[in-house]
Amino acid sequence: MSLQATPGLLWLWQIVPFQTLAVFLGLFLLISDVMKRRRPRNFPPGPLPLPFLGNLLYIDVKRPHIAVEKLAEKYGNIFSTQMGSMTFVIVNGFQLVKEVLVHQGDDFLDRPQFPIIHEFFKTFGLIMSNGHSWKQQRRFALSTLRNFGLGKRSLEERILQESRYLTEAFEEEKGQPFDPHFKINNAISNIICSITFGDRFEYHDSQFQKLLRLIDENMYLQGSIWNQLYNAFPTLMKWIPGPHHTIFKNWGKLKCFVREIIAKHKEDWNPSETRDFIDCYLTEMAKADTDYSFHEENLVFSTLDLFFAGTETTSTTIRWALLYMATNPEIQERVQAEIDTVIGQSRQPTLGDRDNMPYTNAVVHEVQRISNILPFSVPRMATRDTTLAGYQVPKGTVLIFNLTSVLFDKNEWETPHTFNPKHFLENGQFKKRDTFLPFSAGKRGCLGEQLARTELFLFFTTLLQKFTFQAPKDVKLSLEYRMGITLHPLPYQICAVSR
Ligand code: HEM
Ligand SMILES: *[C@@H]1O[C@H](CO)[C@@H](O)[C@H](O)[C@H]1NC(C)=O
Repeated sequence: MSLQATPGLLWLWQIVPFQTLAVFLGLFLLISDVMKRRRPRNFPPGPLPLPFLGNLLYIDVKRPHIAVEKLAEKYGNIFSTQMGSMTFVIVNGFQLVKEVLVHQGDDFLDRPQFPIIHEFFKTFGLIMSNGHSWKQQRRFALSTLRNFGLGKRSLEERILQESRYLTEAFEEEKGQPFDPHFKINNAISNIICSITFGDRFEYHDSQFQKLLRLIDENMYLQGSIWNQLYNAFPTLMKWIPGPHHTIFKNWGKLKCFVREIIAKHKEDWNPSETRDFIDCYLTEMAKADTDYSFHEENLVFSTLDLFFAGTETTSTTIRWALLYMATNPEIQERVQAEIDTVIGQSRQPTLGDRDNMPYTNAVVHEVQRISNILPFSVPRMATRDTTLAGYQVPKGTVLIFNLTSVLFDKNEWETPHTFNPKHFLENGQFKKRDTFLPFSAGKRGCLGEQLARTELFLFFTTLLQKFTFQAPKDVKLSLEYRMGITLHPLPYQICAVSR
């Protein structure tokens, strides 16, 4: 077919001037681009996409989640937008978000394969996998986390011990200004490390500190414009130098680290005495009737997923918590007063104290609400053709959940933009709120929610039992954020003054 067509085209080449041919070629590409973008009838509304670029230019490079605001204002709770050749549907507001995540949850269980993530993670592990493999890996990870102490005393003790180490590391600073960032990351990471690798890492272990910095850098880079450009034009961007190549390099190093630990586990693996997640996984792989999804690559990526998801999110939240305490001294004092009454100074806090500490519990929730660290959660994809709020949504459509619209909804929260623990209090008692969705919800909601909540309460109370957090002399602490995959505070120095 093409052999016959070629001479015909050559002939055309000879008689048609180059410019005309170029114009026709351009038109052809344009039309095929427009055809590719065709949406079904009754698709959620959105701005007219520009050829080749989609709505890329609507996105503010520095603050992408604020810039689309105008679209939300114009189109309401559900609308579509395009970046490069990808179409997204953006979902706003508690009612609709909940509808999609929970009631229609089964229609939106999958993750989309964004080029930049797919290139490295493929569909392995927990976060980026789909279908059968995801179901098996998630079930196994949840039950293994439970065996290693979720909801049991052993895990609680591990967290308490780690928070003692963190307190000691803060004490070394003697109340002088310091940046607590990587001490916090190390302490928090040690909890998931001890569950998955069976080990914790010293805060001055420079190799481990380097890994923590790689995770941090990737969380930042993957929220940048480079990430969006790569996703929109993957083939082109592969050839263009830029920070997006660092992303792959960093993930590669982190994967190497996990691989080495797995190799060591294989050497001294004893199926009758499983020490941690990796041991359990090796045992599962060795079973005669094991599911086919339990293989080496899934082991590596599930471990890597737990490692970075269990590190970055919770540490970022604790970093915000210290900032909010230092900038709201009267609230910090009330937390400390509650700690002094319920726990005192002679023993460490326990999870059992949480029910007797409504104010502290409310403060931890309010920190999570206002710091809104995953403003767009993690994207989902329609598993089948479906309808949503009366619109047609075909299989494969990417959905983005705007958690900001839930956590800052002015009809739900008295003072959405002001730090206010009263959001979670009623007559002095802790009040649960349906609209508190920082972990998302439904079958694909955060797998580490219970672990994260345990860590947040215990680390926070232990730190405030021992220290008062203050801005360094003559410094005004900033609550501005930096956008990455997570919204995190700008680098800051703080004083941890012993009580
Ligand atoms: C403050 C702490 C945390 C926050 C705010 C948070 C938030 C989230 C959110 C919003 C999602 C997306 C869920 C969805 O698509 O509906 C998620 C997924 C996930 N989180 Fe967390 N998370 C936190 C801590 C953790 C921890 C400590 C772990 C470690 C065990 C963890 C492991 C995961 C995993 C593995 C997924 C993917 C689940 C799946 O795709 O099935 N997270 N998290
Ligand atoms: C997300 O929600 C916030 C708060 O309601 C809103 O200001 C913003 O425009 C929304 N963003 C998108 C992309 O819908």
